[in-house]
Amino acid sequence: MKSYSDHAQASIRMVDNPNLKDSIRKLVEENRIDVVVETGTHDGIGSTKMLAEAYAGTFKPRFFYTCELSFSKYKKACKNLKRYPFVKCLWGRSVKLAEAIEFIKTDEALQHHEKYPDVFIDQPDDPASFYIKECQSGFFSRKKAFLKYLDPRYSLMRITRYQGEDLLRRLLHRHQGDRPLILLDSAGGIGYLEFKIVKKIMRGHVFWLLLDDIHHLKHFRSFSEIQSDPSFQIIAYDSIHGWVLAKHTLSPSAAS
Ligand SMILES: C[S@@+](CC[C@H](N)C(=O)[O-])C[C@H]1O[C@@H](n2cnc3c(N)ncnc32)[C@H](O)[C@@H]1O
Repeated sequence: MKSYSDHAQASIRMVDNPNLKDSIRKLVEENRIDVVVETGTHDGIGSTKMLAEAYAGTFKPRFFYTCELSFSKYKKACKNLKRYPFVKCLWGRSVKLAEAIEFIKTDEALQHHEKYPDVFIDQPDDPASFYIKECQSGFFSRKKAFLKYLDPRYSLMRITRYQGEDLLRRLLHRHQGDRPLILLDSAGGIGYLEFKIVKKIMRGHVFWLLLDDIHHLKHFRSFSEIQSDPSFQIIAYDSIHGWVLAKHTLSPSAAS
């Protein structure tokens, strides 16, 4: 794989792309999508704001969740998304930490990444260690964050706000039959793990899926599976900025 820093359009946030914005707004309005589940909020002003704006002139969603692992980014996102009171920012992990580490350690694409020369990766020299570290970051493994425990306000926030692990599974089980829009954009090493969780839980259900980084380790396999699985219908995609928007139907024949 090749280094993502060499990619001209490299960006941590989903690029504010008019084509994507229009596709989402149209999708939300036409299908009355009123449940949104997102992994990887970051500071809220990228994909989350773009999704929230799709509800600007129309009805409001019943449930709009976005989850973020980092406490400081979660706090920023809460502030940045105040204008959209229907957006519920969750501080927590999309998947269990132990599951994420196991997935990265045994990921065939990471062990043999030279087999995929066209795919981007963040750290070609020792990608597994890089992605494990990325997953471990957040609130408890960093020295600075550990010191925060000594701050009573932080400890209170931790007790009252931290939502724990496995949020993606938990939210999907809750909203399996609600025809949700699901956006996966968390850590690079676990994008495909999140995609597999979505496919398993949402099998036999209608949902819409937006993936960022389809040319990156994060979602190159997810994109490839979407392309070859007749249950998915691609609505829009952008190979330069690296996103895809697709619909999953109950059965291939219902894809329209
Ligand atoms: C690529 S950024 C997301 C960008 C954002 N969607 C945007 O468009 O601005 C990935 C974010 O996911 C967070 N993250 C990483 N692992 C996570 C996990 N397991 N659960 C939730 N968030 C995670 C990171 O802290 C980071 O802020």
